[in-house]
Amino acid sequence: MSRRRTYRIGNKEIIVEVGSNLAHALTEFLLEKKFCKLFLLSNETVFPLWGTKIMRALANAGFEVEKIIVKDGEQYKNLETVKSILKQLILSGAERTSILISLGGGVITDIGGFTASILLRGIPVIHYPTTLLSQVDAALGGKTGVDFYGFKNMVGSFYQPDAIFCDLKTLTTLENKQISNAMAEIIKYALTGEEVIYDILHKNNPDNVMTVAEELVDRSVNRKLGIVAEDEKEAGKRELLNFGHTFGHAVESASSFKLLHGQAVAIGMSFALFYSMEKGYITREWFGLAEKLIESYGLKTSIPPEIKIDDIFDFMAKDKKRRGGNLRFVFAKGKGAVVEDAGNIKNVIDRFIIYKTDGLDKR
Ligand SMILES: NC(=O)c1ccc[n+]([C@@H]2O[C@H](COP(=O)([O-])OP(=O)(O)OC[C@H]3O[C@@H](n4cnc5c(N)ncnc54)[C@H](O)[C@@H]3O)[C@@H](O)[C@H]2O)c1
Repeated sequence: MSRRRTYRIGNKEIIVEVGSNLAHALTEFLLEKKFCKLFLLSNETVFPLWGTKIMRALANAGFEVEKIIVKDGEQYKNLETVKSILKQLILSGAERTSILISLGGGVITDIGGFTASILLRGIPVIHYPTTLLSQVDAALGGKTGVDFYGFKNMVGSFYQPDAIFCDLKTLTTLENKQISNAMAEIIKYALTGEEVIYDILHKNNPDNVMTVAEELVDRSVNRKLGIVAEDEKEAGKRELLNFGHTFGHAVESASSFKLLHGQAVAIGMSFALFYSMEKGYITREWFGLAEKLIESYGLKTSIPPEIKIDDIFDFMAKDKKRRGGNLRFVFAKGKGAVVEDAGNIKNVIDRFIIYKTDGLDKR
């Protein structure tokens, strides 16, 4: 049994299905649609694992599908790749009623969404995310884009898919580090108001996280799309989803992207919790529980010694400049979160580092 929910974002209805083996659900969805051509975008890693199976299901339902396979890796999330996809789509006669299915992790759903958004001013796209991170975060909410001249996600658009199929079976071929990478985002929902997720994570044995994957993905989708439905373009409430990300992004950049995004966000969340505790927004007890939760899912909360603190400052200063001199920060408050001006963050970072070395009482 799978779970299907419908969300309205802007003037678009989006169907999200969460369950195992969803190729059949995808074909059923397509049988109800009128379209001229079907394209499946994937990469060299994911296509052999899951693409052939989905192509077969689509062929059995009588659909002709053209596959578009790109190289695997964040380094290919760029305009060159978009150009090559556009070329294949156009030469194969894509029209406005063609549908692009993006099958892969966040890199593929970001590229697929962006390409679909600019071809003929927008053709329908369906996401079939195959990493836990893309199922609980990247494929949701309509932010699409590619990296440009070393800047992450610099060129992009807001573009909602018609449907998202979160097939839990595809997660069985993921490496463990990809699972813990995604756990950071799920924990983010838990620490910013989604108490049911907190309870599941708290009670669950972290070694058996996949036994509760369906519940976690479904709840995460519901949390993120619930917020996006209220604030699609990040003018307010959607900023809450950046919990742990202001500091986390700076740590990720300062590590020259050696840390996975989730590993950096875990450190960012620990810092945000610490800052929130200093402000009196959360209790010391909640701070301890929250840090323990993050660490229990295999994520470290200290800055690795090889990362220079000055580099973290530099990246944060650049971020601040890009945002017009105004650095917003998401604080944990009670069991929820609030967004405020970041204030004098430098001193807090100094105290955070002392805390990480000596413990809370030695600051
Ligand atoms: N649009 C958004 O709102 C948003 C949010 C968060 C992250 N992102 C973006 O998402 C990207 C990260 O996503 P990701 O973590 O999924 O990385 P990814 O897409 O690079 O996938 C990680 C690796 O796993 C492989 N893979 C994918 N599915 C697999 C499967 N089922 N079995 C085995 N291997 C598989 C991929 O080929 C890749 O090598 C970044 O580019 C980030 O900027 C976007």
